Amino acid sequence: MTQSVTKNSYYTSTVEDYTHQGLGVVKIDGYPVFIQDVLKDEKIEFKVIKTNKKFGFGRMIKVIEPSNERIIPPCEYYYQCGGCQIQPLSYAEQKGFKKGAVEADINRQARLGVDIHDTIGMEQPLYYRNKSQMPVQKVDGEIRIGLYRPRSHDVIDIKHCYIQKDIHNDIMNEVRELLKTFEISIYDENKHKGLLRHLIIRSNHDDSEVQVGFITNGRKNPFSGIIQILVEKFPMITSVVQNFNMDKTNVIYGSETKVLYGSEYITDELLGKKFKIRARSFYQVNHEQTEKLYTEALKLADLKGDETIVDTYCGIGTIGQVAADHVKKLIGIEVVDSAVEDARENAQLNGIKNAEYHLGKSEEVMKRLVADGVQPDVVFVDPPRKGCHEDFLQSLIDVSPEKIVYISCNPSTLQRDLKILSGEGGYKVSPVTPVDLFPQTNHIEAVTVLTKNE
Ligand SMILES: C[S@@+](CC[C@H](N)C(=O)[O-])C[C@H]1O[C@@H](n2cnc3c(N)ncnc32)[C@H](O)[C@@H]1O
Repeated sequence: MTQSVTKNSYYTSTVEDYTHQGLGVVKIDGYPVFIQDVLKDEKIEFKVIKTNKKFGFGRMIKVIEPSNERIIPPCEYYYQCGGCQIQPLSYAEQKGFKKGAVEADINRQARLGVDIHDTIGMEQPLYYRNKSQMPVQKVDGEIRIGLYRPRSHDVIDIKHCYIQKDIHNDIMNEVRELLKTFEISIYDENKHKGLLRHLIIRSNHDDSEVQVGFITNGRKNPFSGIIQILVEKFPMITSVVQNFNMDKTNVIYGSETKVLYGSEYITDELLGKKFKIRARSFYQVNHEQTEKLYTEALKLADLKGDETIVDTYCGIGTIGQVAADHVKKLIGIEVVDSAVEDARENAQLNGIKNAEYHLGKSEEVMKRLVADGVQPDVVFVDPPRKGCHEDFLQSLIDVSPEKIVYISCNPSTLQRDLKILSGEGGYKVSPVTPVDLFPQTNHIEAVTVLTKNE
């Protein structure tokens, strides 16, 4: 196809679909153009802002015929901020977009031909994030705390974020004032000078424990006055930590963390089990939806009590431990050493005696376990966005558990891995259920189970 669509030209057309990023797709003589903030079936006028061989990008100029599912974004910063991508979509439309993206990968791309269930959504799809990581900047003498403008390092000073928990908004606003009062030095990334880089806030499900973290370029600690006022005003702050990051990098955390007040961790509860969460540990950001996701995963596993289960990519041990009462033996695998320590401590905290944890890459540890004669009945798989390593998939196929429960935060790698497991692995893929862990954003989570073909 030769493309005749040129940059800076204007078109009027109807939005046909969404990309995985939640952009609207419009086709001009078969040439797809991707546009932010437009909804499926809307007639729009747009300007082409970028083209390449196979597709282009456009900017919406005017909605000529709006969709009934278009809403006014609740957040006043939405059109400047990079934190959310799909606020103009009603929540029903957001859930439909996520189901459609999973459908596209699983059935159009991988051709697995399985049902995709409706997305399991939230009652109130706002104020859910239990972890906020906010860059701090000083511009013309004003301190800004918030989120970056898309594709930039300009911090938008946010006073109220609709997807982080409200207690985080309150603490963030108080900290901004205290940073001014105490004249705390703020990091300037261009000069690689100044102290405070990021403000971190984490909380448990009922806000009874909150952790505040200061990420600093240097080891100075000018925060004692701020902490005193903060904990008086917010007695639920049970932990304040300082993490040192002196590198010239976009990575938020450095390797060393020091406790400035209270405990090193906060504790949360998931489906009746307790979990200690340290500053750098992975922990799902949406409590309500994580409980729904794990409940779905357990339902799919359909445990009888005599199984050996493996919880791979286990983080601080959450999925395996909520399943532990229903199995004979739990084996966890995780690559981050502090997370493995957390998982072991959490097992103790929960009185779980049938668990063991292995530090290492799933692709290496699984092979070793199999060589040692471990024969799992059910394997829970919850990898990062890049999905599973092919060696890990191969050892899964070799050891051939009855069931594999696969939780994914990226439908593109989910379809790739399911194709391998159902192809050469001979597994049957059950319907896939998207669970909305990240309302207002384009992130997609899904769960399914694979069972051995007879
Ligand atoms: C999406 S998180 C899931 C964590 C946990 N299952 C939960 O629900 O909280 C993925 C986890 O996999 C770990 N990880 C990444 N690559 C890994 C690998 N090759 N082998 C084992 N664990 C890995 C990460 O450190 C992280 O804890």
